[in-house]
Amino acid sequence: MSKVHELNHPLIQHKLSLIRDKNTGSKEFRELVKEVSMLLAFEVTRDLPLEEVEIETPVCMAKTKILAGRKLGIVPILRAGLGMVDGFLNLLPAAKVGHIGLYRDPETLIPVEYYCKLPSDVNERDLIVVDPMLATGGSANAAIQFIKDKGAQSIKLVCLIGCPEGLAAVQKMHPDVDVYIAAIDEKLNDHAYIVPGLGDAGDRLYGTK
Ligand code: URA
Repeated sequence: MSKVHELNHPLIQHKLSLIRDKNTGSKEFRELVKEVSMLLAFEVTRDLPLEEVEIETPVCMAKTKILAGRKLGIVPILRAGLGMVDGFLNLLPAAKVGHIGLYRDPETLIPVEYYCKLPSDVNERDLIVVDPMLATGGSANAAIQFIKDKGAQSIKLVCLIGCPEGLAAVQKMHPDVDVYIAAIDEKLNDHAYIVPGLGDAGDRLYGTK
């Protein structure tokens, strides 16, 4: 069973309240999503391996640690996932970025991949799939499956807000994928929006409706 890491850090919770507020405009919304993403990136990379190096400080020689060069990939689910990429890249500038776009076939309701461009060495990278909202879990599950089908071996999912239904769906289909999330809300409503949630993340990021 995968682990769910709910990051109830005060800074994250404060910024999430501002993000949820319907009076927060797109510019501030984008900035806040970026900031919270950076804080989530800090937590999701907690288990990165380190190696010892010898350096010379102005005072003396010292043995210190640097990242042991794990290759990382960030994979936003289009379109709302794009809002989280810059926050991750701020902390992980060497990460490669793949993109995956899905739509739901209106008749079969099955998610269909319409765009997928991943780093060519996807099987060697630790991939971090990002999408602000984990609602039914349908998109996240499909995106993770597409990425696995292309050879990915190590995947984490990072979201801002989820609900019990979405988490259960991902844990059931992908028990190997840990989920990092800033808040777990109460439920989904009849339109598959998270309650209380923040509305439509893509619309709020990009000012569409
Ligand atoms: N996607 C969103 O953008 N918001 C929700 O509440 C659910 C899915």
